[in-house]
Amino acid sequence: MNTNKPSKNCFVPLDELEKQREYSSLVGSVLSARFTGKPLAFVHTYGCQGNVADGERIKGLLQSAGYGFTEDVNKADLILYNTCAIREHAEDRIYGNVGAIKKLKKSNPNLIIALCGCMMQQQRVADKIKKSYPFVDLVFGTHVIHKIPELLYRVLCTGKRVFECNDSDGVIAENLPVRRDGTVKGWLPIMYGCNNFCSYCIVPYVRGRERSRKPEDIIKEAKELIAMGCKDITLLGQNVNSYGKNLDCDINFSKLLQQINDLEGDFIIRFMTSHPKDCTKELLDTMARCDKVAKHLHLPFQSGNNRVLHEMNRGYTREQYLELARYARQVMPGLSMTSDVIVGFPGETYEEFCDTLTLIDEVRFTSLYTFIFSSRPGTKAASMPDPVSREEKGVWFKELTDLQEKIAGERTAKMKGETFTVLCEGYAKEGILNGRTQGNIMIEFPEVEGKDVLGKFCKVKVTEPLTWIVRGELAE
Ligand code: SAH
Ligand code: SF4
Ligand code: F3S
Repeated sequence: MNTNKPSKNCFVPLDELEKQREYSSLVGSVLSARFTGKPLAFVHTYGCQGNVADGERIKGLLQSAGYGFTEDVNKADLILYNTCAIREHAEDRIYGNVGAIKKLKKSNPNLIIALCGCMMQQQRVADKIKKSYPFVDLVFGTHVIHKIPELLYRVLCTGKRVFECNDSDGVIAENLPVRRDGTVKGWLPIMYGCNNFCSYCIVPYVRGRERSRKPEDIIKEAKELIAMGCKDITLLGQNVNSYGKNLDCDINFSKLLQQINDLEGDFIIRFMTSHPKDCTKELLDTMARCDKVAKHLHLPFQSGNNRVLHEMNRGYTREQYLELARYARQVMPGLSMTSDVIVGFPGETYEEFCDTLTLIDEVRFTSLYTFIFSSRPGTKAASMPDPVSREEKGVWFKELTDLQEKIAGERTAKMKGETFTVLCEGYAKEGILNGRTQGNIMIEFPEVEGKDVLGKFCKVKVTEPLTWIVRGELAE
């Protein structure tokens, strides 16, 4: 595998996409001959938003080929799990779920069971499925989503198992049909893959090299989202700050952000994930300047200790991170920051872990995604000595989450009496609506008769701050 070259010619050719459209109509014909009504697909996606965005394209392809959808696995004619490999626990869950659906094949002999996503892009997993889960019909990796019609056709016509998980630097397939999970919030992938090889992380091995979509394709999709009423667009990539590096045009992430900000419409823009190593003051200035960009920065620091950061291959120091956070808050007072942290990286000592705590105390994040290190076969960290026990790491983890809970509580307490612009996303329960502030804090408020705010921006005054969410009331 080529490890560090950004791929330039990664766009799936038009004739290949056309061929897949032909397969899609062939699948449609087979399905209508085999089923009386519309066959139903149950598609479940695990993992990050990038995987969710893939899932929306997978569903788009299935819909074009003639499938309807069900949330009930027992009613499905096609069950597809779009998997995640980021931690061992994510993988174990999939093996459990797949084992549990084996029995459904007995009641529905036409049932197809399929697995795709990051986990399947690992040879050892595909081999295990091949050997130990003979009732799984179709397995494919992350680089062949556009080939779903062809793969399905092969399964439907031959009745044989199909495995397509070859390693690749990765491709970009444009103009795939998308079946979106919602209309108010939309995921917009701007790049795929990762070149960073953080020593603990499986993503670069299962997602291929970093590659960016062309700005015109992104703008086109952004306009489609806005036209369908989407009010909250999240730009996605593993490292959005290095957007554009494989493209021949004059573009970078700041410029792209500005271009999307300049589009007509009433919407906000979010993005993730931003890597501190490539986060520039230019980007922070752009965020500050762009009125539609949410004043929320998800900037994973992983560890507050320089030796651990170096071993993680993160490419920045604690001091550089703190300087970015300081500058971000200087140009955007009130900025909400969130982050990812790993506890118990191999060889981390308690003293080093305490540097993570002091960093958290200094930056005062709105919330944190906290993980205990999970060894991923094939990564560099998997072969590093890891003397601290899981129990011990659990104690450190608790110390960290207690600290964050205190900080979050103090932060939400300060919101009392203030009024925020909130995008109303749906119902928390009957009569109670919910939404998020720009800073990504969940806010719940009672519905008011005659005021239809669902799917719209509204003003909400905070009346009761809880630790992670706040309660409030419509202000106007
Ligand atoms: N590209 C993003 C992260 C994507 S993975 C970035 O670099 O910030 C999401 C998070 O999962 C990571 O930020 C990290 O905190 C966590 N993670 C990744 N691999 C892990 C592992 N092996 N064990 C525990 N946590 C891990
Ligand atoms: Fe994984 Fe690092 Fe790439 Fe993020 S930047 S996906 S943590 S290798
Ligand atoms: Fe998981 Fe793959 Fe995302 S490993 S976190 S689904 S890129």
